[in-house]
Amino acid sequence: MDIVKNDVTTYPAYFAGDWQASESNKTIAIQSPWRHETIGRVQAVTQSEVDQVIDAAKKAQKPWAKLSLGERGAYLNKWADELDKQKDDLATAVMDEVGKNYKAAKGEVVRTINLIRYTVQEALHMHGESVRGDGFPGGSKEKLGIIERVPLGVVLAISPFNYPVNLSASKIAPALMAGNAVIFKPATQGSISGIKMIQALDKAGLPKGLLSLVTGHGSEIGDYLTEHPGINMISFTGSTRTGKRLSQKSIMIPLVLELGGKDPAIVCSDADLDVTVKNIISGAFSYSGQRCTAVKRVLVDDKIADQLVAKLKTAVENLSVGSPADNSTIVPLIDNKAADFVSGLIDDALGKGATLVTGNHREGNLLTPTLLDNVTQDMDVAWIEPFGPVLPIIRVHSLDEAIKIANKSSFGLQASVFTQDIDKALEAAGAIEVGTVQVNGRPSRGPDNFPFLGVKASGMGTQGVHNSILSMSREKLTVVNLRP
Ligand code: NAP
Ligand code: G3H
Repeated sequence: MDIVKNDVTTYPAYFAGDWQASESNKTIAIQSPWRHETIGRVQAVTQSEVDQVIDAAKKAQKPWAKLSLGERGAYLNKWADELDKQKDDLATAVMDEVGKNYKAAKGEVVRTINLIRYTVQEALHMHGESVRGDGFPGGSKEKLGIIERVPLGVVLAISPFNYPVNLSASKIAPALMAGNAVIFKPATQGSISGIKMIQALDKAGLPKGLLSLVTGHGSEIGDYLTEHPGINMISFTGSTRTGKRLSQKSIMIPLVLELGGKDPAIVCSDADLDVTVKNIISGAFSYSGQRCTAVKRVLVDDKIADQLVAKLKTAVENLSVGSPADNSTIVPLIDNKAADFVSGLIDDALGKGATLVTGNHREGNLLTPTLLDNVTQDMDVAWIEPFGPVLPIIRVHSLDEAIKIANKSSFGLQASVFTQDIDKALEAAGAIEVGTVQVNGRPSRGPDNFPFLGVKASGMGTQGVHNSILSMSREKLTVVNLRP
């Protein structure tokens, strides 16, 4: 199936149950962000191949939807078993391809196995309802409405580079359990991990045609996939820029978008600073800040700002920096362009008077963790998502001011509030315009049975296992007109 030449594997695409090279005769080299070498090549799939796999998906979806939930679930549980067998290999692939440290990569794979099994259980326990017509004025008891959930058809799943296994399976598993077929387009940097994950699904014996994996640059096949009339629903995770494009291109197609963020950590004067620092540090810097839910700004009460900054400085300087294979917290960014972008934000802030507390050293795409104090609202880093290891600190005079600045952002993914006063926490939680507010904890997706959503430029619709199944199915009403 895979072709190995000069120690570099060329991976086939997965077309309707068959592993094949693309007719384009073109492949894309995948560079490891930390080994700085080509670790594999993936197919550049053509538009006509997209047509063929969507056609096959349409055909395979009908018999799949007729299977019982238990039968569908059995395939997915086998998939989870296969992933469990190859979890070390898959974790290594994730580490090599996207530079996540080995421990976190393994954590991602294990989380995915649990997510697939949980999705099966959740789908087994979801059920329809019935309603009598007499609840409405003038309605009649003889009208019995049976409300069931039915699949949408073919779901297009598009995932980002930073969780190449988990954020793909969290679309594929609910789509399949809801009775849909799937076209999976992984992030190009993330394709090898995606392919290995689908090899496990193939081993589980999934019926041919039901799922296809199309690799290729989003800029080349993305619009074609999004606008394809054979697609019935799109589940997308990635940047706000790409999400907005999808929203313009996909006309009257149900769309779930999980996009970027600029999550604030609001630190009140009565916060437990040890709890606060621990959460801000892991929130801002794990995987070098390449998480949508990373803490991307701190809004701290003036009264405790000096104390907080001193503690954050010590913690930042203790972070391990280096190789993902050594389980470093700070690892090389996904590519040089990403590192240039972060450096540009730091330079802009320093040029406008921010204080460099620590960090700002760079070797290629490896940036040391950087703490910026006295950041003001005229600086880009106050508003733009860096997706890298830089944390701006904005000093405020009150909780009201912190909430105002939090809400001024175009993003609305999550926010943290650190305080020991639960009334204050709940008041703030009510006022901050985001999908989720964390009280005394770092922003984070999950546990995966929780709803996960962003508002404003952070997204549309809700993920989390239960909500994903809902978004990938629809209500179907059958009215039985009984004899009076
Ligand atoms: P991205 O550049 O937007 O790419 C995401 C996916 O979209 C990739 O598969 C990409 O393919 C594809 N794509 C690109 N252009 C497309 C087009 N015209 N049509 C259809 N698909 C297209 O995002 P990323 O750099 O991978 O991920 C980082 C961003 O994702 C950050 O902003 C982060 O906050 C956000 N994110 C959000 C969440 C969340 O749940 N809210 C989770 C993770 C990440 P190629 O790789 O081939 O370009
Ligand atoms: O990158 C975005 C992910 O949805 C974040 O997930 O909070 O579990 O790291 P996480």
